Amino acid sequence: MRRPIIAGNWKMNNTIAAGTALIKELAPLVKDVKDVDIVACPTATALAAVAAAAKGTNIHVGAQNVHWEAKGAYTGEISTEMLNEIGAEYVIVGHSERRDYFGETDEGVNKRAKAAFAAGITPIICCGESLDICEAGTYLDYVANQVKAALNGFSAEEAAKLVIAYEPIWAIGTGKTATFEQAEEVCAHIRKTVAAMFNQTAADAIRIQYGGSVKPATIQGLMQKPNVDGALVGGAALKAVDFSQIVKF
Ligand code: PGA
Repeated sequence: MRRPIIAGNWKMNNTIAAGTALIKELAPLVKDVKDVDIVACPTATALAAVAAAAKGTNIHVGAQNVHWEAKGAYTGEISTEMLNEIGAEYVIVGHSERRDYFGETDEGVNKRAKAAFAAGITPIICCGESLDICEAGTYLDYVANQVKAALNGFSAEEAAKLVIAYEPIWAIGTGKTATFEQAEEVCAHIRKTVAAMFNQTAADAIRIQYGGSVKPATIQGLMQKPNVDGALVGGAALKAVDFSQIVKF
């Protein structure tokens, strides 16, 4: 049995004041949730304060990116040591917004994921196709290739502990959720890809989230799908009540 994981990707939202207030509002709403990993991913400037606010609760904290080098001349980047220092347990890597707006490549995503994992931080590795690729019908191959590139160099035992987020780009922030069947089709294909790359044990253990306009009204149908193990939530993670309802699917 895979433990569900629901993560909120706050993107470039929430100051320290707003982020800590959100955690304080969220914590009592989700305090009785025992069987789901709950993660909040604030911006870098709010990470330390949000981690402090989440201390002693069942809310874990994740970053939105990490660099693969330990230190040095990488303006604007954050190292694994810096994330460890503030207690970030997860990090989102390869989000489509990073890939599309900031030129992140499959190779870079792989390096970031490997550096995070080696530092004891669980990477949430994002993949997903654009509307063009979806409509062309080549999305299964496209997503499988992203997964193969991102997981290159991991061992089967390591792959088992990773989290993958399948986020069709056409569903992100658009209000257009993939149907439950569409989400399941791709998540099942990702699991098959992991089995072929490593083994069935790794494929059975790796957790695969769906992301893209997830809302309280859609989470239940998604979570009923056998290959969907959680969600990466953007807009709805900015509202404590909505996010708590998603966590309590
Ligand atoms: P959304 O974002 O829920 O606002 O569509 C999801 C994401 O990009 O992680």
